[in-house]
Amino acid sequence: MRLWGGRFEGQPNEHMERFNASIGFDWRLYEADIEGSAAYAEALADAGLLTTDERDAIQRGLGQILEEFEQGRFDLRLSDEDIHTAVERRLHELIGPVAGKLHTGRSRNDQVATDLRIYARMAIRRLDEALVELQRALIAQAERYRDALMPGYTHLQRAQPVPVAHWLLAHFWPLQRDRERLQDCRRRLNLLPLGAGALAGNALGINRELLARTLGFDGVTPNSMDAVSDRDFVAELLFCGALIGVHLSRLAEDLIIYSTAEFGFVRLSDAYSTGSSLMPQKRNPDSMELTRGKAGRLIGHLLGLLTVLKGLPSTYNKDLQEDKEPLFDTIDTLLLMLPVVSGAIASLTIDTARTQAALDDAMLATDIADELVRLGVPFREAHHQVGALVKAAEQRGVALRALPPELVRDVHPALAERWAGLFDARRSVEQRRVTGATAAAALQAQLEAARACLE
Ligand code: ARG
Repeated sequence: MRLWGGRFEGQPNEHMERFNASIGFDWRLYEADIEGSAAYAEALADAGLLTTDERDAIQRGLGQILEEFEQGRFDLRLSDEDIHTAVERRLHELIGPVAGKLHTGRSRNDQVATDLRIYARMAIRRLDEALVELQRALIAQAERYRDALMPGYTHLQRAQPVPVAHWLLAHFWPLQRDRERLQDCRRRLNLLPLGAGALAGNALGINRELLARTLGFDGVTPNSMDAVSDRDFVAELLFCGALIGVHLSRLAEDLIIYSTAEFGFVRLSDAYSTGSSLMPQKRNPDSMELTRGKAGRLIGHLLGLLTVLKGLPSTYNKDLQEDKEPLFDTIDTLLLMLPVVSGAIASLTIDTARTQAALDDAMLATDIADELVRLGVPFREAHHQVGALVKAAEQRGVALRALPPELVRDVHPALAERWAGLFDARRSVEQRRVTGATAAAALQAQLEAARACLE
């Protein structure tokens, strides 16, 4: 059944029909579509355009269609074109010609914009839950490895010692920002487009404010032409998704390199590793490699949609039908990735003997320079002098602490007295007491702040 057959002769071309149809993917909007239509029937009755009997018949029919979808009994047809047509076609079969009153004053343009916003709200809720689960796993592991130290890296070169918990929590905060971004996106998208009609608004006195309340929107869109063409919320959601992908990918990359034999810091559990078909000894971090790989497709979806949107003339154009597949795939992909990453984090073990053994004296060079600063040496000079000591140790092939004492005394007599006590990674970590740093008290405060985000 075509909704627009009146002025057409003959059948659409078969290729065109398949090309035009979105039912193959937008059937997933059935719940939002039915919810929107039930509320619309209410608004039509409220405006005196449906009798209460007609409204009840429509709403009962819609309830039945929802059941058919949920039980997998709904008969999808290519000729239905899209979900909006499919629901109306079925309603007609179930309740007869009164079904034809449901679309009064409504267009698929304001309808699809409404459905998609309802879907996006649901998706944001589920993403938030999945992000929280991962945040919990990171906190639990940070608590478990609170006392362990590891090398912190810049440029992937050993830099300064840090608590393992500090590294784990460094992956917590990006996810917190992702959650905030999603809520911000939700706040902006939660305005009702329904009542915008095809583009110029509803002529039959529909109460949009009532509709908005019924459907859980915070208000109504202020311009009908904008309302039917605005897909900013999809682009924003795809950006949020792409950035979540980037964050997960960076976490995955850490775990991939830290689980190599060369690092040996992390062991992923068997449940999140796979073997090689050829090399019996292999244990591959496929879960993390796929996580890293899927970030690419999430970024691609964002770029794809922005490209679709950029040249569109005002209001609805069929190009906009291209918004759905990237959106659905972004949400599906993230809802697949997030539980895997959460599970991999929750079940990994850290070899704290190896992380501790990877700390070397040179990583305390900054602390030695800081010590000289405390003795009144300008930092630039201290940096230079400690650099010379590092070089001397390298040339002799010894650790810093094993340098001949007279070399240290030449730099500063008081430094030589303190020398032996400086080669303690724990001491280094405890020097950094400012908010957000590595000392035990600062780390404790950070853990508490992180936990508070999940309350
Ligand atoms: N399937 C369409 C879409 O997803 C629904 C809106 C169709 N509107 C129209 N004027 N043909 O965009």
